[in-house]
Amino acid sequence: MGFDFVSAPSIAGQFSKNSQVVIIQEDTQKALQSLPREHFALIVTSPPYNLGKEYEQKAALADYLKWQSEIIARLVELLKPSGSLCWEVGNFVDDGEIFPLDVYFYPIFKQLGLKLRNRVIWHFDHGLHAAKRFSGRYETVLWFSKSDDYVFNLDAVRVPAKYPGKLHYKGPKIGQPSGNPLGKNPSDFWEFLQQEWESGIWEIPNVKSNHPEKTLHPCQFPVELVERCVLAMSNDDDWVLDPFCGVGSSLIAAIKNRRRAVGIDRDAEYCAIAKKRIQDFYAGDLKLRPLGKPIHKPSGREKVAQIPMQWLEEEEKQ
Ligand SMILES: C[S@@+](CC[C@H](N)C(=O)[O-])C[C@H]1O[C@@H](n2cnc3c(N)ncnc32)[C@H](O)[C@@H]1O
Repeated sequence: MGFDFVSAPSIAGQFSKNSQVVIIQEDTQKALQSLPREHFALIVTSPPYNLGKEYEQKAALADYLKWQSEIIARLVELLKPSGSLCWEVGNFVDDGEIFPLDVYFYPIFKQLGLKLRNRVIWHFDHGLHAAKRFSGRYETVLWFSKSDDYVFNLDAVRVPAKYPGKLHYKGPKIGQPSGNPLGKNPSDFWEFLQQEWESGIWEIPNVKSNHPEKTLHPCQFPVELVERCVLAMSNDDDWVLDPFCGVGSSLIAAIKNRRRAVGIDRDAEYCAIAKKRIQDFYAGDLKLRPLGKPIHKPSGREKVAQIPMQWLEEEEKQ
């Protein structure tokens, strides 16, 4: 049965096969028991990293991984045989030592029979400046498929080629364009902005609260990052699940692209914001950064892009 994905559906609080958008405010492990097996084309999430953020309690790494592996085992049961799972993580940090979480998660997925298709690097330019190590500027997305028969819609996510005018210079196609008119493969190095509101500091100080997607959630990911996964790894009317959905970025990416979505988060405030964002989306009021919009590069004329006067004066004195 097809749905009208343009007019606002009601947002259900519990899963039913007829719903279109579901937000379950509950502990993930418990909520997963109510979902049907082999139903989801795509599971995409950024789980808590065990850093002691406002929405989590820091635990020993082994305990955290044990909890996560129980959840992952259930998620694999929920995936369709042709389904994909995207796990977006950064580092667990303890006493200044970093533990790259994808390294710890990989064997958990592998043991459950999943196959790694890409380890995507999500690079961003902003973040904390470290003093005793290099500042962290990327996280990873592990994309696994449940079988060898998986969905990959490359044409849906192609990006403009740098040199579309390139021609074959030899062989039977000599003189013909060598690229694809739909653009090139976006590669496994992604540059969506983690917090685009920070890029505003190039021009407008304190623009944070003006960022189109920013809510009060401390670790929200950009809708366009999930959109690329949704478009490439699922089809229209498929079901997408985010088991740690926060303020609903994955759900928005799914419904925007005519998929149905289930999100789980135990925090009532985040769920309420997710609901409001979805309602705003259907009302045409949700501001989103368009998929593929180029990242702002300072022209050099902005005040913050110039070398401070004080530094120049210091240099002159030497
Ligand atoms: C990294 S954040 C995800 C943010 C999300 N990607 C977004 O764009 O808003 C992890 C989320 O997991 C939720 N969470 C942590 N432990 C949970 C649990 N046991 N059950 C359900 N949700 C949980 C937190 O409330 C938090 O919103």
